[in-house]
Amino acid sequence: MIDLTGKRAIVFGVASEDSIAWAICKWLAKAGAKITLSYQTRFRSRLYGLTKDVDFVENMSECDVAYEEQVRDFFNSLEGKFDMIVHAIGYAPASALEKPLIYTSEADFNTALTISAYSLQRIVRHSLRKLNPNSSIITLTYLGSTRVVPGYRLMGVAKAALESFVRELSNDIGTAGHRINAISSGPIKTLAASHVPGFDNILGFMKHTAPLRRNVYQDDVGKAAVFLLSDLSSGISGQTIFVDGGFNSVALPSDIEKVTFQD
Ligand SMILES: NC(=O)c1ccc[n+]([C@@H]2O[C@H](COP(=O)([O-])OP(=O)(O)OC[C@H]3O[C@@H](n4cnc5c(N)ncnc54)[C@H](O)[C@@H]3O)[C@@H](O)[C@H]2O)c1
Repeated sequence: MIDLTGKRAIVFGVASEDSIAWAICKWLAKAGAKITLSYQTRFRSRLYGLTKDVDFVENMSECDVAYEEQVRDFFNSLEGKFDMIVHAIGYAPASALEKPLIYTSEADFNTALTISAYSLQRIVRHSLRKLNPNSSIITLTYLGSTRVVPGYRLMGVAKAALESFVRELSNDIGTAGHRINAISSGPIKTLAASHVPGFDNILGFMKHTAPLRRNVYQDDVGKAAVFLLSDLSSGISGQTIFVDGGFNSVALPSDIEKVTFQD
């Protein structure tokens, strides 16, 4: 087991017990880390319910990453130094997900890209003075960044920007020994995922097609996150690591010969 005793993490993106970020918190805590949570005001009561019986959360604070001053004030309020940051934030207005990307407005584009991608740069920039040397940062992305997934639309554009930020930021912060990577998770039922049309079918196709012939779950991502946040991954930075049962490596399902398509 990885030992993170004495290490401190800041986690953005817990909204419910189904949040991928909450699973990451639990796996970090199993390894001995203490956690500071940053959450959106609208999830306050859920967060209080979730954290009331756990001993690994040392601090909790509201912060909307769409606003520069809120992220600045959040980091100003923190005492001491940290070793790990988790960015598990994604958002696109419903109006943008409901229609083809060609109809996306500039306003929706700006909102989605600011919250889902630029917020990573904003968080990393403000965090630098609070990080111990050789700290590790992760974010969460999805295959829709590089391949068309029906219904993912504007989020695919945002995730492409997010992954590019990971590569660029890794080069910016690497001189201080800090690392940053993305986990590209397979589809998992969460609040955010409930806005993707046809999500149950996406889960079914993934299970049918992935080399592991199963879906991935929050714990699969939580374990990979602990690896990437710990010293065990000391030589890895700027990468997008898939936790998707191998789905991304497959072009067609194994039983394609049984399906008839008309040409
Ligand atoms: N669930 C999936 O299938 C899946 C797959 C791949 C990647 N991801 C990514 O994982 C991350 C976490 O999502 P999740 O599936 O756990 O869902 P979730 O709904 O539990 O988490 C999304 C989080 O984003 C936060 N957020 C949105 N706008 C914000 C803002 N302006 N300021 C601060 N926080 C804000 C929400 O409060 C919430 O905590 C997202 O980046 C998502 O795109 C999810």
